[in-house]
Amino acid sequence: MTSARTPSVATAAIVLAAGIGSRMKSALPKVMHAIAGRPMIGHVLASLAAEKIAPVVVVVGPDMDGLTKAVAPQRAVIQKDRLGTGHAVIQAKDAFAGYSGDILIVYGDTPFISPETLARMRAARGNGKKSPAVVVLGFTPKDPGAYGRLIVKNGGLERIVEAKDAKPTERKVKLCNSGIMLADAATLWKLLAKVNNKNAKGEYYLTDIVGLARKAGLKCSVVEGTENELLGVNSRAELAEAEAIFQAKARARAMDNGATLTAPETVYFSADTKIGRDVEIGPFVVFGPGVEIDDNVTIKGFCHFEGARLAAGAIVGPYSRLRPGAHVGVDAHVGNFVEIKNAKLEQGAKVNHLSYVGDARVGAKANIGAGTITANYDGFNKSHTDIGAGASIGSNSVLVAPVKLGDGAMTGAGAVVTKDVPADGLALNSSRQEVREGFASKYRTLKKAQKDKKK
Ligand code: UD1
Ligand code: MG
Repeated sequence: MTSARTPSVATAAIVLAAGIGSRMKSALPKVMHAIAGRPMIGHVLASLAAEKIAPVVVVVGPDMDGLTKAVAPQRAVIQKDRLGTGHAVIQAKDAFAGYSGDILIVYGDTPFISPETLARMRAARGNGKKSPAVVVLGFTPKDPGAYGRLIVKNGGLERIVEAKDAKPTERKVKLCNSGIMLADAATLWKLLAKVNNKNAKGEYYLTDIVGLARKAGLKCSVVEGTENELLGVNSRAELAEAEAIFQAKARARAMDNGATLTAPETVYFSADTKIGRDVEIGPFVVFGPGVEIDDNVTIKGFCHFEGARLAAGAIVGPYSRLRPGAHVGVDAHVGNFVEIKNAKLEQGAKVNHLSYVGDARVGAKANIGAGTITANYDGFNKSHTDIGAGASIGSNSVLVAPVKLGDGAMTGAGAVVTKDVPADGLALNSSRQEVREGFASKYRTLKKAQKDKKK
């Protein structure tokens, strides 16, 4: 859909992310804080990728190796001194040597910029003789506060004035700068070279390129977006607000795509959660990163999933925990207080109560009794448990890995299985039961007498 509106001009991007985000009060760079399980900057990079904007250069601060790694394979350049947004953009100039297309500037802390809005900016830039040299993405926030104000005259953008530098009349302007801009590379570098730091903050403002473009007789224009899309995250409270906006959208999208959410406001998605059709999701379910749910899956309340895949017809919960590498096969069941990690339940397998299944395969239609534990870790290594199709594991069994149970094998209740069990074999090692008739009443009489004597 976007491609029809996208002009043929090549568009690359610079993502500004050198700020530490002092208001976050965190050792982690601001843009590494997660929304829906994905670092803020990951949301921005996903939108750029969806609009096929490349290459992407990220401007990071010194000592932000974690951020540099997180944005790879996109290139990161370091801004040593944080001298302003204009100075930050210049740090990426060498990375664009020989590049002559358009450059989009986005902020790493404005996570919800959508590919559709980027496409509208590209369309507004166009590639004709009368096209504006600079396109700025503006919006009208409820509280214009510290945002830069867009000064528009005769339908064209004249300049951007930062709140701290604005005259009282300019501060009254409601149309604000989101920070996102688009210009062709040659114009951008030419204008940025003229930016100085004679302003209230003593910074090199990127926003000054608009006034400079007008002075050079170039046209500038504004594309407008919404506040929800352009909100910038500067504090933990704003991070929570952004999370809420994301979740509201994700719930609506899941329902639009054919999932039933009994209590949508209690379900939490990750940015990459994939949900099929006719999926039922009960109250209080959390989808961590990397979860894929196929069609016709039922998820009862109070489940927590991450890195898990649920195949068609699976029934999970209530109170199930699926950890990375959990694969619940077609029509398989996982019940209450069951934890599954790096294990595959094949078609129709059941682990219904109070169990831990880790580093394992549970064959088709096998039944795992209540309280079964795969003892997968000896303090040094993780080992695998292989349970054959149709096996029946007695309640409270401990399967000490590495161990293999063949198809149709059984274990008695309370078995501690340390040796392989052949197909259709039975593993038993609990001691034989002894029955002493009348013992219970004799015991009670004795105990009561002892207690009475003490009184
Ligand atoms: C900026 C805009 C303002 C706009 C607002 C939108 C300027 C001068 N002002 O103000 O018009 O309304 O964003 O949120 O551009 N950064 C660097 N290096 C620096 C400075 C900033 O990488 O030296 C990065 C920050 O990490 C951040 C972004 O640039 O991602 C914006 O910087 P910030 O200091 O938040 O700018 P604002 O004062 O909010
Ligand atoms: Mg800001």
